[in-house]
Amino acid sequence: MKFVVINGPNLNLLGLREPKIYGTGTFAALEDFIHRVCAKEGVEVELFQSNHEGAIVDRIQQAYGTADGIIINPAAYTHTSIAILDALKAVALPAVEVHLSDINAREEFRHISYAGMACIKTFAGLGFEGYRQAILYLKEYLQHR
Ligand code: DQA
Repeated sequence: MKFVVINGPNLNLLGLREPKIYGTGTFAALEDFIHRVCAKEGVEVELFQSNHEGAIVDRIQQAYGTADGIIINPAAYTHTSIAILDALKAVALPAVEVHLSDINAREEFRHISYAGMACIKTFAGLGFEGYRQAILYLKEYLQHR
């Protein structure tokens, strides 16, 4: 089983970036966390981070035929990007949305998630743990569908 984990803009600055909201863990620590969870679960994983919307669309398209599922934190593009929504719909792979913070408890403009409309599940407000939940959920989903 192979997953692609996609992280959007500014997540590369984790640790430095608004630590009261996103925590003090660095992006390298998040990547390490994801690698460890996937290894434990016997899931192959490829990680991708970009600050560019089109690059994220390209990576979603590349997942078609090469991965079994997608885990995505589109960051700010969550709330603006119909292109990412359309890419997720186009490849039609099971996708799980993750947010470190609880987007529904924040500013109103963060309450809408376009990407979420193409996802089978969302984990928000759990910090790094949300990625673990997403990996477990997607694995379980793929095993039982
Ligand atoms: C985020 C929430 C978004 O609203 C924000 O723009 C981000 C990170 C999160 O993980 O909590 O960049 O996706």
